[in-house]
Amino acid sequence: LAGSPRLPVLAGRTVLITAGPTREDLDPVRTLTNRSTGAMGVELARAFRDAGARVQLVLGGDLPAPWGVETVRVRSAQDMLAACESRWPGADGLVGAAAVADQRPERAAPEKVKKGEGPETLVLVRTPDILATLSASKRAGQWILGFAAESEQHLTHAVAKLAKKRLDAVLVNDVQDGRAFGNQPNTLTPVTSEGPQPALGPLPKDELARAVVAWWAARLG
Ligand code: CTP
Ligand code: CA
Repeated sequence: LAGSPRLPVLAGRTVLITAGPTREDLDPVRTLTNRSTGAMGVELARAFRDAGARVQLVLGGDLPAPWGVETVRVRSAQDMLAACESRWPGADGLVGAAAVADQRPERAAPEKVKKGEGPETLVLVRTPDILATLSASKRAGQWILGFAAESEQHLTHAVAKLAKKRLDAVLVNDVQDGRAFGNQPNTLTPVTSEGPQPALGPLPKDELARAVVAWWAARLG
């Protein structure tokens, strides 16, 4: 494939990728979710695959599984964490591209809630933080890339996430005005412990994913 060189530093390495939205059910017909489709995570899975890695994709949402990638479909943040926890010890790296719901309803009703019969206020509780949980059991040599979807003070928030979740890099996405969702070219600014790095993009998501992989492989190498 043009523009997809196999990168020696990734050949035979196992990369675990989270992608897509999570869905937090209220009852059998209603759900809380977000505007992510998972397109960027799926493109990253393809780009790591093309670079020679074995890719395990933990995918929320409805996008088709990419060819040549071991895909596990999940629904909620809790499902996503469980799928990742069993795979993380065998992985060399983790890419957290999922748009994980930060809250879920305190309880999911087993039957459809009827109008006027259910509570009129929604009680939300925090979901587990997948990257923070996995990073707590990171062993020597394992690396973690996170994303930060921000609408303001992008770099300040990204630096805070880098430290708090003990990540190796945060790729900062500007979500102001719906940018980063859908098909428009997108830009990612990597932030590492050395500070902000030159921006990648603007590029369509498939090319941007290849740029992320090439950037990260160059740092690993
Ligand atoms: N993330 C995660 N588990 C969560 C929430 C987020 O693994 N429960 C990951 C995302 O996949 C992303 C990174 O953490 O790689 C940052 O996500 P983001 O929503 O930007 O940050 P939060 O830590 O959730 O903080 P906030 O939404 O308040 O900005
Ligand atoms: Ca969040």
